[in-house]
Amino acid sequence: MEKILTTNFAGLDLISPVLIGSSGLTNTPEKNTALEKAGAGAVILPSIFEEQIEIQTGKNTWTDSPKAHDYVLNSLNGMQLDDYLQLIKKSKKSCRIPVIASINCYRNNGWIDFVRKIETAGADAIELNIFGLNTEIDRPENTVENIYVCITRQVKSLVNIPVIVKMSKYFSHIVKLTDDVRKAGADGVVLFSRFYQPDIDIHLMQANSGYVFSSNAEIADTLRWTSLVGAKLPDVSIASCTGIHDWEDIIKCILCGASAVELCSTVYQHGNEIIQAMNRSLEEWMLAKEFKSIEEVKKQLNFDEIQDPSLHERIQFMKYFSNRD
Ligand SMILES: Cc1cc2nc3c(=O)[nH]c(=O)nc-3n(C[C@H](O)[C@H](O)[C@H](O)COP(=O)(O)O)c2cc1C
Repeated sequence: MEKILTTNFAGLDLISPVLIGSSGLTNTPEKNTALEKAGAGAVILPSIFEEQIEIQTGKNTWTDSPKAHDYVLNSLNGMQLDDYLQLIKKSKKSCRIPVIASINCYRNNGWIDFVRKIETAGADAIELNIFGLNTEIDRPENTVENIYVCITRQVKSLVNIPVIVKMSKYFSHIVKLTDDVRKAGADGVVLFSRFYQPDIDIHLMQANSGYVFSSNAEIADTLRWTSLVGAKLPDVSIASCTGIHDWEDIIKCILCGASAVELCSTVYQHGNEIIQAMNRSLEEWMLAKEFKSIEEVKKQLNFDEIQDPSLHERIQFMKYFSNRD
């Protein structure tokens, strides 16, 4: 692959900005070797859940909820902590691209020490998928934001490898939270994680899970916030995620300020071949536009030049609807 696609995300040097998001796509060393061969810049391993870590290390027995305990122990993804560390070790042995471990967490609790084992196993970085929905009426409004900052700070104090925070988009001040997470030590952020999608079955009259894959329409928020965060916090290293389905989408994200993208749905739907095709098209587009590096493409179209991005967004909104009868 040509050097033109090299980039740096969260301190990691990458041969391509196309990273494979945490999922079943990366759950064996063989799959990760194949992803590298297809041209991926890095792989993010499936998440291990903080509950799995706590139950298996005896930090939390969840005796108050035996059903949850059983589910985490027996049904979840069946992943034992040793299996996870082996996945890191074996993937590192078979791949030259960075192997990034992932933890899904929501409390600043007994699981945290496990990050040291992840580092010792050889992971190049840790991605924290911090889950939080504030649904309690008497909980202070910044509870989830505080958890993001506390977890980031604590993990960062325990390891020397880069720490990446995969963020939710359900916050009223994404720019401020990103800045707080950066100050807590995050080396990069992923904008955004995608929550479980609820749906309703109107025939069975019950709650259901929605479609597991994203749609391309979901890229709008990804672009908006990549651009806003990129403009306001130029030192923050961003990987865009959610709704990115083709090579044009990757260029849009980089133009908005991303250093890389994390893909999942489109690779499930089209196979590893799409990675190679995306790299090729990215390179052709860059050469046609006479860009020499990803760094040059970055931020060509973010909100940098605009004094008041919220006013700009408001005017765009007015234009958008006033032209329709
Ligand atoms: C089958 C499947 C499994 C996933 N597992 C994880 C996971 O273990 N940890 C995580 O942080 N995200 C997980 N995700 C979310 C993806 O990493 C990604 O953030 C999300 O799908 C949005 O990207 P996309 O629009 O390219 O699909 C999963 C997604 C899918 C479709």
